[in-house]
Amino acid sequence: MTIDTYQFDDLKLLSPEVQKLLPDQYQLRSLGSNDFARGHLDVLSVLTQTGTHTYHDWLDQFQYMQSHADTYFSIVIEDQALDRVVAVGTLFVERKFVHDNGRVGHIEDIAVANDQQGQRLGLRVIQALQYIGRQQGCYKIILDCATKNIPFYEKCGFQQKESQMVMYT
Ligand code: ACO
Repeated sequence: MTIDTYQFDDLKLLSPEVQKLLPDQYQLRSLGSNDFARGHLDVLSVLTQTGTHTYHDWLDQFQYMQSHADTYFSIVIEDQALDRVVAVGTLFVERKFVHDNGRVGHIEDIAVANDQQGQRLGLRVIQALQYIGRQQGCYKIILDCATKNIPFYEKCGFQQKESQMVMYT
């Protein structure tokens, strides 16, 4: 493996409180360029189909996000003892004209490996993304989720508001 580069480099965006609350040997960090080999897509596959990526397909998307590091904030929790990604999530920061050129954070693609669920790693990912959203000046953070996940997001501090609509193209 080559040395990792990171999707975003600003270590101040990583919540020290969340890091303290993680089990020993678990690290909160930005998505890294070697996380394909550490099972990044295996974790995402508990959420939905990920596709048939080669490493180069994955790296293409990673590098796009890396070159838009003021918009995408993709984080992982890694089990450093096993060199394995165990939880993932992304904050996408949208710039708007309304609310005085306000910014809205969108939480996307939250997933915890099947054998790691129930240890508050999902909660820690959300807390870490909320921390980034605050630092980025987002006036609110929103997300779409399945009905069965509403109780999880309520535990994370979200409340239901309005409706989601979709059109598949
Ligand atoms: N129903 C009720 N309560 C729940 C549920 C649930 N489905 N899931 C978690 N909780 C509660 C936990 O009991 C815990 O409560 P506590 O603080 O009182 O103990 C609290 O929520 C935090 O739970 P975590 O342990 O952090 O949850 P976990 O690490 O298992 O992660 C997650 C939850 C992310 C939903 C995980 O189960 C998962 O990866 N599921 C499959 C993928 C998925 O559906 N992701 C969400 C997609 S939506 C989006 O990406 C915007």
